Amino acid sequence: MGRAGELVLLVLAAGKGTRMRSRQPKMLHPVCGRPMLLHVTALGRGLGAKRCIVVLGSGQEELRGALAQEPVEIVVQSEQLGTGHALLQAREALQGHRGPVLIVHGDQPLYRTRTLETLLDVFRSRSADLALLVGELPDPTGYGRILRGPDGRIDRIVEETEASPEVRALREVNLGIYVAEAAFLFKTLSRVDDRNEKREYFLTDIVELALEAGHRVETASLEDLSEGLGVNDRADLARAEAVLRRRIAEHWMTQGVTLVDPERTYLDADVEIGPDSVLEPGCRLRAGTRIGAGCRIEPNVVIDASSIGDNVLIKPHCFIEQARVGDGCIIGPSAHLRPNTQLEDGVRIGNFVEVKNSRLGRGTKADHLAYIGDADIGEHVTIGCGAITVNYDGQKKSRTVIGDGSFVGCNANLIAPVKLEANAYVAAGSTITQDVPGGALAVGRARQRNVEGWRQRRFGKRDAD
Ligand code: UD1
Ligand code: CA
Repeated sequence: MGRAGELVLLVLAAGKGTRMRSRQPKMLHPVCGRPMLLHVTALGRGLGAKRCIVVLGSGQEELRGALAQEPVEIVVQSEQLGTGHALLQAREALQGHRGPVLIVHGDQPLYRTRTLETLLDVFRSRSADLALLVGELPDPTGYGRILRGPDGRIDRIVEETEASPEVRALREVNLGIYVAEAAFLFKTLSRVDDRNEKREYFLTDIVELALEAGHRVETASLEDLSEGLGVNDRADLARAEAVLRRRIAEHWMTQGVTLVDPERTYLDADVEIGPDSVLEPGCRLRAGTRIGAGCRIEPNVVIDASSIGDNVLIKPHCFIEQARVGDGCIIGPSAHLRPNTQLEDGVRIGNFVEVKNSRLGRGTKADHLAYIGDADIGEHVTIGCGAITVNYDGQKKSRTVIGDGSFVGCNANLIAPVKLEANAYVAAGSTITQDVPGGALAVGRARQRNVEGWRQRRFGKRDAD
């Protein structure tokens, strides 16, 4: 048996995923923010596989989209006639291939690279023709059961739908990961039939067929059983999410991040967090988010695909999406940073402030109740409570430009396009429609007049009582 040759990762992902009851293909359901299937294809990189072949069928249009950036080859199973039939579709792609083919299921997103390396070691070191991963599960429901002979060696796999009550009682299961050479696989698969309850070609039948033909089949036992979880329905999806969430939390804790309550901190697989940052319960960091060192993220903050500098304080209930926040900023509580917001170092954004598609220079602050959209704001600017950039006239968006050191009083409306030069001062309550020169005071509101004795005249003596 040739033990050398390049490793190929082969992912079975053509199934309908009926049990999910979803319009979306099962493989696209995210586990910690990353589509299930991409957790599996990532294993190929970790193992240094030269090729990754994915078998697609049901929902292939959407899946192709999700795989567009991945270095994978796609083969199609146009009818879903079972796992054995799915693998057969890769026959042409693997024609003449020498080297181990590692078969994984697209709905098992929790495997670690080192677990699969162990299986590859068993395959190589014991000169096996077929090696598969097995495990003893407390609840084996839904999995194929491993039947062993009196000598303890594997005999065959029996699918749950085919199993007698005695077989169902067995807790050792097939975890759906196999290694074999391509030539062996396709020779053995050609003898698999669909004579079973489900009328499907079961890949699992190759175990019995291989043994009958005198081949060597070896098993490796999974140590951390949580890795073997297959996602068939929404309950499995939640379980998979919980396992990975815990794993991600533990990783960041080893990197010097404090998670006040790891069970209630929701970190996607594709986030990064600097040391000495503290995450409080209920915060959710979505894919593509980077948090610097020494930050504090208080409860119920959601951050999506954003980059946060060092020593940033984010108070409760903020939503930050596709934004960039510099070092030492203080945000919230209850602030909303929308896409293409860029805050330079030391900016302060207070409660009920919304910022969108704007740049705020160093040390600028908007502490309460403001809307800043499509604005270029310099350094050390003060935006007063209730101030608004009026960026939309019902047809088009326009920009507001505010120079360094300017002061925008409370409840001012800056009607864009408009420009305030450096050190401009806008009186509270003004509606500004014209540019303001540097250092000038702009007052854009009706002058106040007081009407003496008005109330007495209007409502008479009774009201005054
Ligand atoms: C399968 C195994 C079972 C094992 C379990 C581990 C078989 C017959 N059974 O059962 O022994 O314990 O996985 O999780 O293999 N697929 C296709 N084309 C098809 C059918 C399935 O590509 O025609 C793909 C699916 O997308 C999925 C994988 O193969 O990624 C497994 O299919 P699924 O129907 O989920 O098999 P299980 O019932 O979980
Ligand atoms: Ca499955």
